[in-house]
Amino acid sequence: MNWYPIGDISDIPLLGARCVKTPQMKIAVFRTDEHEVHAIENRCPHKGGPLSEGIVHGTSVTCPLHNWVISLETGRALGADEGEVRVIPIRNEDGKLFIALENVMLEAAE
Ligand code: FES
Repeated sequence: MNWYPIGDISDIPLLGARCVKTPQMKIAVFRTDEHEVHAIENRCPHKGGPLSEGIVHGTSVTCPLHNWVISLETGRALGADEGEVRVIPIRNEDGKLFIALENVMLEAAE
């Protein structure tokens, strides 16, 4: 596992998100009202909506396109909807954020 710095928690608005681009996918990094951070693929499992533009509540985000609710912890759609997005490991070290990318992504970036 390779950890990459993606900035500071203060770069992310409370109950908001930032989008981080990697060679293989866009990753949405969220900050909850408890100041927890979560990273998931920025692509709704329904029709690919940008989850980073959704509304954060608790540990979930509501997709801005058709209101599916996605768990930030598991990446799974909640309620009656079915689907999931990839969850990216994220670490918060005194406010500095790091996400874990696989080797294949590292190679693609070189
Ligand atoms: S694309 Fe997200 S709910 Fe439809």
